[in-house]
Amino acid sequence: ESYDMGGHDTYMHKEIHEQAEAVDRALRGRIDDRFSTVHLGGLNLDARDARAVRRVKILGCGTSYHAGQIGAQMIEELARIPADAEPASEFRYRNPVVDPDTLYIAVSQSGETYDVLAAVQELKRKGARVLGLVNVVGSAIARETDGGIYVHAGPEVCVVSTKCFTNMVVSFGLLALHLGRTRDLSVADGKRIIEGLRKLPGQIEEILANEEQIEKLAGEYADAKSMMFIGRVRGYPVAREASLKLKEVSYIHAEAYPASELKHGPLALIEPAMPTVAIVPDDELLEKNRAALEEIKARSGRILAVAHQEQEKADHTIVVPKNEDELDAILMGIPLQLFAYYTAKAMGRDIDKPRNLAKSVTVE
Ligand code: AGP
Repeated sequence: ESYDMGGHDTYMHKEIHEQAEAVDRALRGRIDDRFSTVHLGGLNLDARDARAVRRVKILGCGTSYHAGQIGAQMIEELARIPADAEPASEFRYRNPVVDPDTLYIAVSQSGETYDVLAAVQELKRKGARVLGLVNVVGSAIARETDGGIYVHAGPEVCVVSTKCFTNMVVSFGLLALHLGRTRDLSVADGKRIIEGLRKLPGQIEEILANEEQIEKLAGEYADAKSMMFIGRVRGYPVAREASLKLKEVSYIHAEAYPASELKHGPLALIEPAMPTVAIVPDDELLEKNRAALEEIKARSGRILAVAHQEQEKADHTIVVPKNEDELDAILMGIPLQLFAYYTAKAMGRDIDKPRNLAKSVTVE
């Protein structure tokens, strides 16, 4: 893509609309149908190395950290390797135990974020193996790491990350599949995940075709002073990222909570003036999520659900196409990027350059 805005009013809008093409680029030339696995040329991790990994620790900041949270869940689900994500900024200040059997992954759009780079350097000083999951080719983090995956989102100009987040999560899907196929993931499951990955560009187009409904909904909720975002397990990092998107561009206060934690405190905030955005995938937790919607409705809370089917308890539902359970998180946040964009637009915000923020934070 060029830096030309190509008929869009902002880079954010343009970049949201580039996602089908960007995901296609992340997948291109990487899938090996013969063995239901993937080729990730720059990874420098052969099957023996991959089998020796005992833990995966993912480090990033902001949106990239949220992508890492989804990535950790995919790695646990598909490769059955214990995995978690942590803000790189926290990690480097807490004298972490650096373990030779852990695979560390630094995730960054710019590849220049100081907190992430410093964490990588500290890990390398301690002899760890660190991979990069980076967008900008040849950036500092790409150079400092022992190998990695370029996410191929193309240039992202808007300070608020959208297409790069999606490509990061897709790249984590590829990595999880690769690690899984060197361990216990079957050929049949590998094939199922590959088919799911291939469906993504078309499904993204379907979501974006629903833009008018999302624009209208943004108008309905733009009067809120504060919003709650909830999700459970796979839906929770989606809720966190969607709440960050809304905060960054609209300056509306938003909180994200696991739906399961509502009754342990945040339910006290629910009232008509505090709408909730709920991530409700059609997976094994559907009934649990529906119960949370009932709890909110019983307190007269307004609910906007992002789901695979209309939700009776919600005031509004944005229906998104279903993929494989393990990949649903890739798609469910996309309508909420548009929701944040249209909310900010209705409020007359400076969408591509929100106040107080920089695209790449290269200082402490
Ligand atoms: C994204 O919308 C943010 N502006 C911000 O959180 C960003 O993701 C973070 O600063 C990390 O940047 P990086 O991916 O370039 O390392």
